[in-house]
Amino acid sequence: MKITFYGHACLGIETGDTHILVDPYISANEKASHIDINQIKADYILVTHAHQDHTLDVETIAKHTGAMVISNFEVAGHYGDKGIDVHPMNHGGSWDFEFGKVKYVNAIHTSSFPDGSYGGQPGGFVIEGEHKNIYIAGDTALTMDMKLIPMYIKLDLAILPVGDNFTMGVDDAIIASDFVECDKVLGYHFDTFGYIEINHEEAKRKFFDKGKDLMLLSIGESIEL
Ligand code: NI
Ligand code: MN
Repeated sequence: MKITFYGHACLGIETGDTHILVDPYISANEKASHIDINQIKADYILVTHAHQDHTLDVETIAKHTGAMVISNFEVAGHYGDKGIDVHPMNHGGSWDFEFGKVKYVNAIHTSSFPDGSYGGQPGGFVIEGEHKNIYIAGDTALTMDMKLIPMYIKLDLAILPVGDNFTMGVDDAIIASDFVECDKVLGYHFDTFGYIEINHEEAKRKFFDKGKDLMLLSIGESIEL
């Protein structure tokens, strides 16, 4: 499994022959100006919630690639109404896609589209694919619900927001990694705006001091699991 960071909360995941894109917010992200959304491959687009910093480029990329949008019922309905292929889910539900199993899990946050319309309840995803299991937390506070995840799966990677202010910050992300029982963490949702700028070295050191590994990728950089 290969994971590419496209800035903010946007990830590309390659598992087998399948390209999955998560929460595309690229075209308005000045820090991601070197990423061309027309070059991004996507068979599926996973959307954690409706906020613009997670959905801005969904429609463009879905129409360009023909990708299926997987999200909560309301977000899926929003894109289904635009003629995009969708798969609606809701919290606690799983589905076996051709690339693996996806579960939509709880997040503590809000979810509205830029025009104020209802975007359902926000969530995260647990993906089982190609012998690797990952958790994408989405925008969320630290929540006890995270403790449910290791009851049914052994994670290889937890992708957690670390930017603070709109989501949990570094200290709560360390506790979250305890809750999900995964010491290998990819941080996201940081540095895009002034509110969520973090000190990278301090964040990594805090994880290291707890025996954990925090990865903070440059935009466009990839890791292999
Ligand atoms: Ni949000
Ligand atoms: Mn966000």
